[in-house]
Amino acid sequence: MTRRPNERPPHTAIVGLQWGDEGKGKIVDLLTSEHDVIVRYNGGANAGHTVVVGSERYALHLIPSGILYPDKECVVGNGVVVDPEKLLQEIDALRARGVRVADNLRISDRAHVVMPYHKEQDAALEEYLGAKTASARGNLSIGTTRRGIGPAYADKIRRSTAIRVGDLLDPDYLRSRLHVICTLRTAELEALGVRTAPLDPDALATQYAAFGERLRPHVVDSVYALHDAMLAGRSLLFEGANASLLDIDHGTFPYVTSSNCSTLGIPSGTGVPGHAIGRVLGIMKAYSTRVGAGPFPTELDNELGQRIRERGREYGTTTGRPRRCGWLDLVAVRYSAMVCGATGIACTLFDVLAGLDEVRICTAYRLPDGTVTDRFIPDAHRLEGVEPVYETLPGWHEDIREAPDRDSLPEAARAYLARIEAVVGIPVEVVSLGPERTQTLVGGRRAAALAHA
Ligand code: GDP
Ligand code: IMO
Ligand code: MG
Repeated sequence: MTRRPNERPPHTAIVGLQWGDEGKGKIVDLLTSEHDVIVRYNGGANAGHTVVVGSERYALHLIPSGILYPDKECVVGNGVVVDPEKLLQEIDALRARGVRVADNLRISDRAHVVMPYHKEQDAALEEYLGAKTASARGNLSIGTTRRGIGPAYADKIRRSTAIRVGDLLDPDYLRSRLHVICTLRTAELEALGVRTAPLDPDALATQYAAFGERLRPHVVDSVYALHDAMLAGRSLLFEGANASLLDIDHGTFPYVTSSNCSTLGIPSGTGVPGHAIGRVLGIMKAYSTRVGAGPFPTELDNELGQRIRERGREYGTTTGRPRRCGWLDLVAVRYSAMVCGATGIACTLFDVLAGLDEVRICTAYRLPDGTVTDRFIPDAHRLEGVEPVYETLPGWHEDIREAPDRDSLPEAARAYLARIEAVVGIPVEVVSLGPERTQTLVGGRRAAALAHA
């Protein structure tokens, strides 16, 4: 495939610029029609991506949101941690609803496996830290999804105790590894006070080899599969899970997840070099939300926050937990856009802000010593101490959900979008006005009707 000089590569990344749940699933669905292969590169079943198709609502956790298009290929990259039991449940549930899941779903043989003891360890550590540090300054429990994400990635880094998807296809090898792993893991779980009976390696090996057998038709060398697709002129759409401020290196550490969820996770999580990506669409709610613990400078722990929660139906797609809500933090968004190399923004849940007399945008932080900065602080302990500096803008009362184009939005709503563009320094290319595909302005115009087969 040859490209003209200066022509952007055709591959796109979708990434959350806040603390998750920005509406990535909806935007991936929107852009799937323009791409051939939809690729997850990080995270696991901690993600919950919603796609609304007419009266149908799909919540995807491990499978890329492009699966609803039967003629597109979906790839779960090597950077994902796969819970085989959950993945098989997701496949079965989609098939039961008439969604095609066959050779259109490919799973990396090098993706790491989330085992039951990872989930046990995740929950046990959260309980232990919650109980031990509840009264201390700064509760150390993270408020994880308890999907075993951290312990599975920890095993990947530790290497000797990790299991990869490819290992599930070799029962003898799997069993021999599990014999050693289970001895070690039983001792670790006992130390956390949660396990009295030893883990049974033979039972686990039998169960997980059976999962492997069911997954076998989907398992591939995803790195070659993606490069073959690119060589054949097919375009890739990378679907970020979790979000940039939860990135293990660039987020509000330690209140983060255990993967590189920013676009920086794409090269390592797929084997596709970063320069292959021509467009990075950063997804941003018109306000902020966060699930779990950790600093949140613009949090509205009051009636207004509750109002946003109800209007935006801000309850977790994966855990059902109420999401913490607050004003838009553009210090954070600008930082995420910088780290991700975002070329444009999709501003979602914009309809939720209607009905307020005035709206606020945080454009700087005041530090404990009184100085003001427009730089984000990706460290939980230091971020706790900042106070947001707000700009107050006029609100709007009109229902904007069916607006035909950007020009017909109320003046105050247009001014809000213009202010985002000015502060972040990149265009708002997509404005989302409701959960449905057609409730979207792309390049200022209403998106076309559904293209799902
Ligand atoms: P993701 O994890 O980033 O894919 O986001 P989630 O699916 O967890 O959460 C986003 C929620 O907002 C879902 O329930 C979506 O259906 C819904 N949603 C997405 N865009 C809009 C929008 O523009 N307006 C409204 N009201 N809801 C939206
Ligand atoms: P999507 O893809 C919102 C949060 C958890 C917790 C922290 C660590 O739907 O946007 P973990 O279970 O990953 O160890 O939890 O990260 N978290 C998310 N919050 N949306 C997500 O995914 C999240 N994935 C992880 O709430 O605070
Ligand atoms: Mg979500």
